[in-house]
Amino acid sequence: MSTIDIKEILSQLTLDEKIGQLVQLPGEFFKDDASTTITGPSAKLGLNKSYEVYNTGSILNVVNPVLIKEIQEKYLANSRHKIPLLFMADIIYGYKTILPIPIAQACSFDFEMIKKGAEVIANEAYNDGHHITFSPMLDIVRDLRWGRVMESFGEDVYVGKQYAQAMVEGFQGNDINEGHIAACLKHFAAYGAAVDGRDYGAVDMSLQQFYEVQLPAYKAAIEAKCKLVMTSFNTINGVPATGNKWLNRKVLREELNFNGVLITDYAAIKELVDHGVAEDTYHAAKLALESGVDIDMKTAVYANEIKSLVENKAVDISLVDEAVLRVLELKKELGLFENPYRGLINPVVKFSEDMKKEIALNLSSKTSVLLKNNGILPLKKNQKIALIGPHGKQKGQFGMWAFTGDRELSVDLKTALEEEFDSVSYAEGSNILLDYSRLGFSANGGNFMDMFPVKNQQELEAEAIDLAKQSDVIVLAVGENMMESGEGASKTNPTLSEPQKQLIYKLKKLNKPIIGVIYAGRPLILSDIESYFDGLLYAWYPGTYGNISNAQILSGKINPSGKLSMTFPKSVGQVPIHYSTYRSGRPILAEDVAYRFTSRYLDETNAPLYPFGFGLSYTTFDIGEIKTTRKEFGSSSLPIVSAVVKNTGTTFGEEVVQLYIKDLVASISRPVIELKATKRIKLQPQEETVVEFQLTQEDLSYHDQLGNLVLESGEFLVSITNVSSNISNHDIIKLV
Ligand code: GLC
Repeated sequence: MSTIDIKEILSQLTLDEKIGQLVQLPGEFFKDDASTTITGPSAKLGLNKSYEVYNTGSILNVVNPVLIKEIQEKYLANSRHKIPLLFMADIIYGYKTILPIPIAQACSFDFEMIKKGAEVIANEAYNDGHHITFSPMLDIVRDLRWGRVMESFGEDVYVGKQYAQAMVEGFQGNDINEGHIAACLKHFAAYGAAVDGRDYGAVDMSLQQFYEVQLPAYKAAIEAKCKLVMTSFNTINGVPATGNKWLNRKVLREELNFNGVLITDYAAIKELVDHGVAEDTYHAAKLALESGVDIDMKTAVYANEIKSLVENKAVDISLVDEAVLRVLELKKELGLFENPYRGLINPVVKFSEDMKKEIALNLSSKTSVLLKNNGILPLKKNQKIALIGPHGKQKGQFGMWAFTGDRELSVDLKTALEEEFDSVSYAEGSNILLDYSRLGFSANGGNFMDMFPVKNQQELEAEAIDLAKQSDVIVLAVGENMMESGEGASKTNPTLSEPQKQLIYKLKKLNKPIIGVIYAGRPLILSDIESYFDGLLYAWYPGTYGNISNAQILSGKINPSGKLSMTFPKSVGQVPIHYSTYRSGRPILAEDVAYRFTSRYLDETNAPLYPFGFGLSYTTFDIGEIKTTRKEFGSSSLPIVSAVVKNTGTTFGEEVVQLYIKDLVASISRPVIELKATKRIKLQPQEETVVEFQLTQEDLSYHDQLGNLVLESGEFLVSITNVSSNISNHDIIKLV
């Protein structure tokens, strides 16, 4: 552990040097010599000419290890105080080896493997000289119009807590300097709850919802000692997170007891002016600093404004010192004062390439979800397969937040299928979109539409139909273009694109079995095409090796065990829809009872197409009658609930056994059901096991209107099942 005295260091810094520690800039500021920097990026960012670039505290998104070393060396050579730079980057769900996207990883319900995956990511990044990753993203999402569903763990509070802990422990390990990196949870807070389902949109909700639904995943990350927190772009009940004193001082620092570094999201401080809560950047700097923001990511606001705020006595220097000390403490914890190059010169290789691939495959074998199988799957080795679709021969199906991924390392579905089957022929069959202009352009002028050429749709279709005619079975690899999910990718109608649907309609006329493999960063509305498929596998964005698992699921080498981490609606009009919905005073009697004056739609069922926790297997499992060690109990003698689970099929399989509760009567109306625990079990054919869950006080507690956690006596329904829509196996227990 470093013995550096950071208070001593602070006392030797000038005000300009203190402010510099709170500024994060991209690497381009250190590429050339000072003169071009000042006229180039400095001018672009609007930095005062007086700003000393060699006072800067941290660097954003430099991912080339050679450049990281060069910048650190150059900085230390030119800096008066010689405080090393922090390097921070978006290494969200993969570095060189890209894992399945987070919402897919959540479908595994295998939090040990998720943690292992994060360890692999951290180790790859550590050895390239990285210090901090802007991950895990812990925004709970119940609105699939919002594109960043892709980076989330989905809709459930319990899954969020487990995922948060797994990712932080995986990234940071027991010793952050032994092949690990610091985690930065984001986006604090409630970023995924935009009232209009649009990215960067306003968030407005009760304190009860905020504490009950939004906060738990962030809280779990902080309890797992997450080193940094990133503010979110959105307002919460009218106040932008990046200038929100209640959120950052009271909730984050006092209630959650977080003492680490709070960094803003990209240019978010400046957006306080756009939000209309700051008159100018001088005012924005004051709001952010007073709300407890330590580092300003990628604007000139802190750099240009803090000095005059202090000199005008508009803020006290103690606020600056407090922020600088947190940054210095982080640098100390990362051992930078002793070794500014960490893994770059002292690599710690924990995983061989084979081990990394094995871990990635273990995870990806559980992330794709089998949604439909009329018996066509698994396919036979000698069946002639026509692989059709724009995703069939696509490498680098990583999703938007994996720009460090090694595309050449990735395996496309065609290559993977050829390992499993004797005859696989391919035709692209369709464009994903016929017009990419809506993908938009980025601030630095890049036009995403230029990345994707549009080909002749008729020719693509004709070639595919010819190929399909000569085959026994069609595997259709369709879905979203990778830029249709992620940041800035909100949609009002998240279905399969029209050209891909046209291809399906035409192929269906050939009367061949069709297995859909769908690649997307969010649940898509599949109601209008579901009936065209004989088998349907949801592959999300599978990462570097995920298609090997997908091919082995189609061949039966792997028995699928993924369960949906998010509800699949029948129509976008049901959104926001999730399994743990609140009760109504007029619940529907049943989907087929058209009693008008109940909480229902005239034009759609309340039920989704596929519910949370749903996923098919090639075997069947029987969950026996639930047992409880006691029906009535006090808060210090909570029961164990259990059930015998049997593999009643003919092949080995894994099942995700789920424990739900329903608080029958409470001071506020509680959800119809809530997931409180899961266990993954492996069973050979005809093998059975007893699955036990020890209930905890937390399982039976909830937050009241003021956000206080309460445990009330009363009756609870408790169910052990394997999908949220079937709680028939239940018992009633009573807390006295
Ligand atoms: C982006 C994202 C955030 C990311 C940051 C740095 O706008 O909102 O998730 O970590 O900027 O790239």
